Amino acid sequence: MKLKAVYRCQECAHESPKWAGQCAGCGAWNSLTEEVVSIGKDAPSARPRALTSTSSAVVRLSEAKGEALARVPTGIAELDGLLGGGVVAGQVLLLAGPPGIGKSTLMLQAAAGLSGKCKALYVSGEESLSQVGDRARRLGIEKADITLASETDLDSILKTIADVSPGLIVLDSAQTVFRQDLPGSPGSVVQVRECSSELLREAKARGAVLFILGHVTKDGSVAGPKVLEHIVDTVLQFDAEERRMLRILRAEKNRFGPTSEVGLFEMTQKGLKGVENASALFLEESAQKSACGRAVSVTLEGSRPMLVEVQALVVPTRYPLARRMATGLDINRLFTLVAALEKHLHLRLDGHDIFVNIAGGLKVKDPALDLAVCLAIVSSSRERALSHETVFLGEVGLLGGVGRAGVLDRRLREAERAGFGAAIVDARSAKDLPKSGSRTTLKVLGVEDIAAAVSQALPEKGSQ
Ligand code: TYD
Ligand code: MG
Repeated sequence: MKLKAVYRCQECAHESPKWAGQCAGCGAWNSLTEEVVSIGKDAPSARPRALTSTSSAVVRLSEAKGEALARVPTGIAELDGLLGGGVVAGQVLLLAGPPGIGKSTLMLQAAAGLSGKCKALYVSGEESLSQVGDRARRLGIEKADITLASETDLDSILKTIADVSPGLIVLDSAQTVFRQDLPGSPGSVVQVRECSSELLREAKARGAVLFILGHVTKDGSVAGPKVLEHIVDTVLQFDAEERRMLRILRAEKNRFGPTSEVGLFEMTQKGLKGVENASALFLEESAQKSACGRAVSVTLEGSRPMLVEVQALVVPTRYPLARRMATGLDINRLFTLVAALEKHLHLRLDGHDIFVNIAGGLKVKDPALDLAVCLAIVSSSRERALSHETVFLGEVGLLGGVGRAGVLDRRLREAERAGFGAAIVDARSAKDLPKSGSRTTLKVLGVEDIAAAVSQALPEKGSQ
């Protein structure tokens, strides 16, 4: 058997005989790493081993219906909501996130929740049995009926699965498991892909639920094994909001349910706790309620409304070119809104630095926040505070018009729940609201354009 070096892309697994800065397969930069492979007749092949010995059954489409999807709740409300009620037999999920975010914690909690309903096997390649045990004690779930294995060798893992015959398998993590007959170290794209697909086949054949945990790289991609995203049924992405302890779980892909939902968690002394009242987290301290440059709006994360506070600071610039900074908001959106304000309100902002921040470290793309951003800027520039009892909802167009915020009814209800008394929205929605059967107790004011919004929200002194 002869050995040779090849360079493999850690993003797409493309193989190249020479190192290059850019992968010829997927165009990624700096993704090629050296791997030693053996060549010759007796070289182990990277092809899945099981394929040669199995033949798949063929059936008519009408006969392939299987049982109705029975969802098994994990008992973690935020996770179940995200999954459309629970996990489905045979479902393979990838839980991806940066190290330290709480993947192992969440999965141990979920395994405990499921352990009463099916046999749970937790395979940890990252921590020793005693470490996992300690964590379970911290979480107060040490009594749960979970079989623990500290394993990294795929064959041993498969053997354990055959012995235990679990209904739930957790692989912690994709980057630690390896197959001895394959080239590359654990975590390399070939190892991750082959080991994960082999476990996936095993889980599917048994109708077991398989959770694969995976670390993501700094740029947010699932480290190397982008391939994993294609083979699993569901991709869950775990992220932290900067500055806060809040962790957001999103379904990026879901063959068995919605992808628009989010789960919110806080890391506590006793593990991850679901956050129900997220709105409170995104509103800054009440002492600042009547500050100039503050406007409250309601954004949607998935189908979940959350109150957010937009903060703007407009100050005369000391630079030749005024600065624009946006935190939690797309900077180009800010440029556009500032241009619209200058044009339609005849506001001169070119001599001013403008900083806009979404409080609480939330990142929003929701256009319904436009109106709040505009009003916060005008509020700061005129040094007049907006009413802290009003929420502002609407998209602002280039022509200065205020457009409809999607799912308005739900947003208004959230504002109402949080104790707000009034809302400024687009004129059409305001007119349609009574007809749509909405029973909000908020005082809803409709505005056609941004100029009307400003005269409503910041009436000239003396015109009141
Ligand atoms: P962990 O689940 O190990 O993260 P991951 O598997 O994604 O790498 O946990 C992350 C952090 O959470 C860890 O630094 C310790 C902390 N933690 C708590 O604060 N409270 C707890 O109850 C537990 C179990 C962990
Ligand atoms: Mg971990």
